[in-house]
Amino acid sequence: MNQYDSCWLRYERVPDGRLDSYRRRCRHAYIAEKAPELSAVRDELRRALPDLLGSDPHLWQHPPTTADGFLAIGTPDDMAMIAESVPTDVVDDLADGGYLLKSVTWNGQDCLVVTASTDRGLVYGTFHLLRLLNTHEPVDDLDVREEPAYENRLLNQWDTPFHRSVERGYGGESIFDWERLPDLRPRYEDYARLLASVGVNGIVFNNVNTTKPERASANAAFDAFEGWQLLESHRLEAFTSLASVFRRYGIRPYLSVNFAAPMLVGDLDTADPLDEEVQAWWREKADEIYELVPDFGGFLVKADSEGQPGPYDYGRDHVDGANAIARALEPHGGRVWWRAFVYGTHEDRAVQAYDTFEPLDGDFDDNVTVQIKNGPIDFQPREPVSTLFGAMPETDLGLELQITQEYTGQGVHATYHLPMWEEIFDFDTHADGPGSPVHSLFRDDGEGVVGVGSVGEDHSWTGTYLAQANLYAFGRVAWDPEASAEAVTEEWVRQTFGGDEEVVDTVTRILHDSWEACIDYETGGLGLMHMMHNGEEYLENHYYPSPEEWPGYHGATEEGIGVDRTSTGSGYAGQYRDPVAERYESVEDCPEELLLFFHHLPWTHELADGTTVVQRLYDNCFAGVEETKRLRDEWQSLEGEIDERRFRHVAERFEEQVAQAERWRDVLTDYFYDYSSVADEQGRVGDD
Ligand code: GCU
Repeated sequence: MNQYDSCWLRYERVPDGRLDSYRRRCRHAYIAEKAPELSAVRDELRRALPDLLGSDPHLWQHPPTTADGFLAIGTPDDMAMIAESVPTDVVDDLADGGYLLKSVTWNGQDCLVVTASTDRGLVYGTFHLLRLLNTHEPVDDLDVREEPAYENRLLNQWDTPFHRSVERGYGGESIFDWERLPDLRPRYEDYARLLASVGVNGIVFNNVNTTKPERASANAAFDAFEGWQLLESHRLEAFTSLASVFRRYGIRPYLSVNFAAPMLVGDLDTADPLDEEVQAWWREKADEIYELVPDFGGFLVKADSEGQPGPYDYGRDHVDGANAIARALEPHGGRVWWRAFVYGTHEDRAVQAYDTFEPLDGDFDDNVTVQIKNGPIDFQPREPVSTLFGAMPETDLGLELQITQEYTGQGVHATYHLPMWEEIFDFDTHADGPGSPVHSLFRDDGEGVVGVGSVGEDHSWTGTYLAQANLYAFGRVAWDPEASAEAVTEEWVRQTFGGDEEVVDTVTRILHDSWEACIDYETGGLGLMHMMHNGEEYLENHYYPSPEEWPGYHGATEEGIGVDRTSTGSGYAGQYRDPVAERYESVEDCPEELLLFFHHLPWTHELADGTTVVQRLYDNCFAGVEETKRLRDEWQSLEGEIDERRFRHVAERFEEQVAQAERWRDVLTDYFYDYSSVADEQGRVGDD
């Protein structure tokens, strides 16, 4: 990775303390030679081991005859040494992707075994082992058994093919050059490596918006929605080529498709899902794709939302729409991921997804997954979790998280999403009584976790080097949502910035404190949200403050602020199961950090500690800025401790983040003051 950053796959020389043990066990490696994934494993060892160990390991094609210790990677069938070291039934029991790492003694030599029941598992096991070496962990007593929590761990790339732009991507233009494909770029493989190293097993290559929505016609960047064209027969060669790169890393390829594809790509005059010719068209298209890409994962569909066509155009519902496409994929083992991000007639958008989808529970085909954003609005800095989680027991569901920082400072601010995701995963839905946290859902076959991608052509991949942590953390939580956030973060920092303890502690702290700071300066912290500018300038969109554009989302009046989503308002709170619904219904019991999401309250309403709502909003906005300055100073303290390029890049972005945080603070506090006419107790807000 020369022209761009290696992210967390930078393999640097291991310090002497560990080197002996690593060399003893890894001077030779035997990798079973049978599947494309195994050749990827071999390539990775060739990249990693010389840099980590400072010596070229011997990579054997056949079981080694050496008298030294060695690393063996394969299934028990591949090698007697593996079969004899690890019980075959234990390996066979592993879920797809699961693996074992074990230190063993073989012929009196210290060896290591990476084994799994599937080739994909061997890829993950190898990356896990390399992570241990890269973070200088001991390997003399290894006995690791890992299985992914979810069958599907998908990346949704919101790239706009042929124009190389990325919707909500702030790390530069798209890395995928569809005009030049099937020619491949090294960057594709490096991206596949990054994803596989954290366990991602599927990628949707294009944006959910596959045609240009009318609403966006004035916005130049939106003029490029042409993802539907990827289904054209002459384009499939490009897709096939890209798929071959990701396949080597166990990553299944998917496409976002347009619901009206039978008309746009085919020449039908309808896309009515109940029309037989339409159904036949989808079948033929699916057959054509599977002929070229046998491991094709399926289609992602955004229908009847933000200008995208859908079944409503024909008086049909989401079940009709999703099932018609799913039936075309079914004979091939493919799946439709059908998004629940829809608008409707409700004044309060929050109630819409549940209202639309919950009544359809049980009617979707087995190979349909309903893909639901984490919250009811749209990836805001903090939202309550979606009421649909746990509400459709007869339907396969997917949780959609946003890795890219659309509303949390884009490619500039250091805003780490892992603490947010941890809060989401730990939330008790009470779907099956108490103790039904979000992380316990999505575990059936066909379910899983999806992340909206963040990478682009920038050297950093993600706009700011610190945002790489969001991509890393996404893969790790989609693999194990119960993993300790501190451990995952520290792991990322050690691999990315090396093992200096001061650097590790400082960067880990910065990341962990960053999310709350962002919530404070961008929202005031009591559950307000969606107060950003919706500009025509693409990069300014959703970045600057502009509360006056969105009265319906924050509900500010002269009397008070917040949106009544209880039974006296939109009724959204009632979509949760008790006792969650009761908790949110009640002003006293509603958690303070979501209070104004559920309640419209007087500006002078007193919170538990006696502070008024408006004063808390002022205080939080100011605290968010102070915290951001503190984080910037923490980063500054690392000067000379990490390489100049990354240090300066992040330092410059921190300066901008502080300026932006001040801007948010000033706009929001002035706005609160203008409506409330309540002066700040500390005299920081109000008439000059
Ligand atoms: C948000 C985002 C859009 C995106 C949409 C979606 O509204 O701003 O760019 O298309 O989500 O999830 O489909």
